[in-house]
Amino acid sequence: MSVIEWQPAFSVLVSRFDEQHKGLINLINDLHSAMQRGEGQVILGNIFNSLVDYTKNHFADEERLMEANGYPDISRQKNSHDLLLKRVVELQGEFVKGNSVLSVTVLNFLRDWLTNHIQGEDKMYGRFFNDRGIF
Ligand SMILES: [Fe+2]
Ligand SMILES: [Fe+2]
Repeated sequence: MSVIEWQPAFSVLVSRFDEQHKGLINLINDLHSAMQRGEGQVILGNIFNSLVDYTKNHFADEERLMEANGYPDISRQKNSHDLLLKRVVELQGEFVKGNSVLSVTVLNFLRDWLTNHIQGEDKMYGRFFNDRGIF
């Protein structure tokens, strides 16, 4: 069972970002499966590390393209990215310390921020980039 599945409604109209969002969703699902299998802290910690790295790279990639094209709402995006990343890193820290009670909270939080951010702010840049020949 997956926590979340990518669906066409999540498309932000820029293929590389759709692919990256799918990658983030896969990592959240991997984390969920590993928890359900009862994997230890080391394996869960490794998946969490991958998720943090992937998230950093994805946010940086979005911000680079926004900057290069003068996206007007970039400060709002950067703000959300910074807040989300800060929270994910905090959760990662708690998790690595062995607070297993956090599992459901972590997964719900990750799922919610991902879907809300993609369907809210990320979707708003689709037309802007498409108008500049970026699909
Ligand atoms: Fe995104
Ligand atoms: Fe974003």
